[in-house]
Amino acid sequence: MRKTGQVELLEVHGNLFINSNPAADSVPYTVRFMRETVSPSKHLDGIITLPGDKSISHRYGMLGAIAEGTTTLTNYSTGADCQSTLACMSALGAKVERDEQGRVVIHGGKLSAPAAELDAGNSGSTIRMLSGILAAQPFMSHIGGDESLSRRPMARIIKPLSEMGARIEAREGTFPPLTIHGGNLHGIDYTLPVASAQVKSCVLLAGLFADGDTIVREPIRTRDHTEVALRALGADIVSSKRVITLRAGARLAGQELVVPGDLSSAAFFLVAALLADEANLVIHAVGLNPTRAALLDFLVSSGAPIKVVDVQQTGGELIGDLSVRCSKAAGKLRCEVIEGALTAGLIDELPVLAVLGAMSDSGLTVRDAGELRVKETDRIATLEANFKRMGAQFESSPDGFFVPGRQKFHAAELDSAGDHRIAMAFAVASLAADGPCAIEGAEAASVSFPEFYSTLRQIAR
Ligand code: S3P
Repeated sequence: MRKTGQVELLEVHGNLFINSNPAADSVPYTVRFMRETVSPSKHLDGIITLPGDKSISHRYGMLGAIAEGTTTLTNYSTGADCQSTLACMSALGAKVERDEQGRVVIHGGKLSAPAAELDAGNSGSTIRMLSGILAAQPFMSHIGGDESLSRRPMARIIKPLSEMGARIEAREGTFPPLTIHGGNLHGIDYTLPVASAQVKSCVLLAGLFADGDTIVREPIRTRDHTEVALRALGADIVSSKRVITLRAGARLAGQELVVPGDLSSAAFFLVAALLADEANLVIHAVGLNPTRAALLDFLVSSGAPIKVVDVQQTGGELIGDLSVRCSKAAGKLRCEVIEGALTAGLIDELPVLAVLGAMSDSGLTVRDAGELRVKETDRIATLEANFKRMGAQFESSPDGFFVPGRQKFHAAELDSAGDHRIAMAFAVASLAADGPCAIEGAEAASVSFPEFYSTLRQIAR
């Protein structure tokens, strides 16, 4: 075992595509199984910039590979998931490289059959969205991922893609790896049975190659980064009242695009600031797409003193600075209930909002969140296990939970269970604990945010 500062490296091995040259298909990489110790901290102070938004990076990476010409991406996500997307696009024949400024440069066009099974790693977005593109290619492909991904349901994309004319085989009809027999697709009019931006995007990406218009109807509005990006790259796509229509025959042209900072990553620092005795934090250039901004609406309506300044547009996406200056804010917050459309809008932020709920005045009830059970882990179960370890109350239900407010977190041995958002949520909870906490499997944060712990150490005192 080696020690570096607060981080203990327990094992070293692996063969992942992460933080390496995205031009190569797969580069041996040292995966460090980390146990991170996070000490209590009362003060949070600083100005930070976050890596590019994970959702937008995936879309730009895939679209850049199928667009004609060159796409240059500034601030592409450093997370392992988004590196998996680049590795897949590279294995499909796109030329992917880094320029001197660290931007990702993709020379796109026609894809070609991959030599081996495509590896989506831990990334549900990669496998679900890319399957839409693969379903339309004149070759067969296989795509799979790690153990967690191999347990995630894919029937939700297999159904519409089959209706469009693709043939897809999966373990037990739903689990990866998938074998996709691509071919000519027809446009469809598809009503999503579950609110899922990944499924919507999968159908729209398949629709790019279909011989008729593609219509997707959403029960609840979900993040619209695919629609925004398609428009920026030249597709004819209109959205009105949760009905998205993509006209057939789109020709996408490469662009220079900037990826806004990840609002879902910002959530961890916003909550850390609200838990602190004293906080003065600025987060620069964060994505503020209205279909993602439920987080800010929720926090502000709960009483959080968050300000949004210097809002601009880039590639059709809004971007701005967030600032929060407060003392002991959490104890005054009235979070109350998250349900229905709000649950869908906050789905990735629910783990860290549960932490905030436990410290709030009101506590927090979450309903309609059955999707949490099929994320990188069963997040209701992994939240419950870690709250119990900290001596905090947490009541789960099949599709949600209740966390009473005004609780105390006790120093504990915590476990990410390999889930990036659980690792980061409990690192934030550890700041408010009565002693140092150890997080087993802390390396999971790298899936979306490899710089998470160093950024936290930079601002927490
Ligand atoms: C995402 C959509 C959401 C979200 C995931 C990213 C996207 O998943 O949880 O982290 O980029 O479209 P679902 O589409 O399964 O809700």
